Amino acid sequence: MKIEKNFIILASGTGSNAVNLIDNFYKTGSVSGINIAAVVSNISDAPVIEKVRKKAPDIPVFVIPFLTASQRPLFEKELCGLVSRYKIDFIVLAGFMKILSAEFVSKFPLKIINIHPSLLPDFKGKDAIKRALESKADFTGVTVHYVTAEVDSGPVILQETVRIEKSDTLESLENRIHKIEHKIFPEALMSVSSVSLS
Ligand code: GRF
Repeated sequence: MKIEKNFIILASGTGSNAVNLIDNFYKTGSVSGINIAAVVSNISDAPVIEKVRKKAPDIPVFVIPFLTASQRPLFEKELCGLVSRYKIDFIVLAGFMKILSAEFVSKFPLKIINIHPSLLPDFKGKDAIKRALESKADFTGVTVHYVTAEVDSGPVILQETVRIEKSDTLESLENRIHKIEHKIFPEALMSVSSVSLS
């Protein structure tokens, strides 16, 4: 039996990645090595909250308000509390649209994981899919990486390329990127959970 690692998911929006991770790992802990111990949203009416509650009623979902920079210290303090309470091994940013402070990130080296819809280091930051399409590049992609103090810059865990077709619209490209996200995010978590980092 694999040693189970506890993951906490942070999400701000639609939650397709959070739900996909739950589809992959909910109640498979001792088999997959991954236990999704809790979900946190910084936005009280984010669709992800209801989706997770419906899909996985036993996973606790917390709303910790964090809309403005002034709310960051309290958000991070409460998150630290959850990390100790649920003995969390990894913090997963699945469409978490806020930046964590350098001080918080430094407390969890190689323990915070983010997914970004581009082939980093290209198209860091917001609207990465739109900017890739507008750039007329031939390729973009998806990156799962460790979070460091510098946004979208930490060590890469897994990347996959997505070709940009001449006929692509923002919607068609977004759909293909999301499909790849849903494939490689669980794979990346499996790979980190099987390596002991502590
Ligand atoms: C994804 O494209 C992810 O790469 C980015 O935010 C988006 C979240 O989508 N960080 P969802 O909320 O998981 O559907």
